[in-house]
Amino acid sequence: MFEKTIITIDGPSGVGKSTAAKAVAEKLGLSYLDTGAMYRAIALQAQRERVNIDNSSGELESLLKRTEITFTRDQNHILLVLVNNEDITDKIRTPEISRLSSDIATKGIVRKRLIEIQRRVGKEGGIVAEGRDMGTYVFPDTKYKFYLDAELEMRAKRRWNQLHESGSDANIEDISKQIEARDKQDKERSESPLHPARNAVIIDTTHLNADEVVFKIIKEVQDF
Ligand code: DC
Repeated sequence: MFEKTIITIDGPSGVGKSTAAKAVAEKLGLSYLDTGAMYRAIALQAQRERVNIDNSSGELESLLKRTEITFTRDQNHILLVLVNNEDITDKIRTPEISRLSSDIATKGIVRKRLIEIQRRVGKEGGIVAEGRDMGTYVFPDTKYKFYLDAELEMRAKRRWNQLHESGSDANIEDISKQIEARDKQDKERSESPLHPARNAVIIDTTHLNADEVVFKIIKEVQDF
């Protein structure tokens, strides 16, 4: 029933987009496209190759030319990002890559390249696309648009919990400052900045658990 559908889920960092998008995709039999992972993948390559990301250096442009982004579908219908055929899923979740990916996402040449790939993936439909500009810019014609938001304090707390579960001793004030800085940059950049699409359903997740968010999204999609 939803096999040609594109559902977009946008919002700031740490708002629960990935958890919600994965679960919605699974429940509706769609594939999950994590576009943040694509920006992170370019950031990882830039870090590995010590690229000066300043446009005027030309280094970023030549990095993009020699970097091939493709996908492989895992058993849960998640489209895993491959960089020059390497699965980089485990290497892109560091604080350094979070920061660098937000910097790189301000660059028009990077966005143009990644957006082309995202639209190619979206051509067939059947995806839940998660990011910052899915509903506003990449797939403006889809009718299923969601924008998740939550208070900064709650987002920092959730990220802190995640990091602590994986053994990190990061402190909550630092996490909060990092999230705030990234949001500011993502919202204020000139190229497809983060904001809700005019016709997006806005969900405040501050006082909702993951199941409640998923329930709301599925209900909206089914009621459309
Ligand atoms: O969702 P994420 O934290 O993995 O995204 C990493 C960075 O990539 C984020 O700071 C902003 C950028 N991004 C973007 O500009 N547009 C998207 N569609 C997805 C992510």
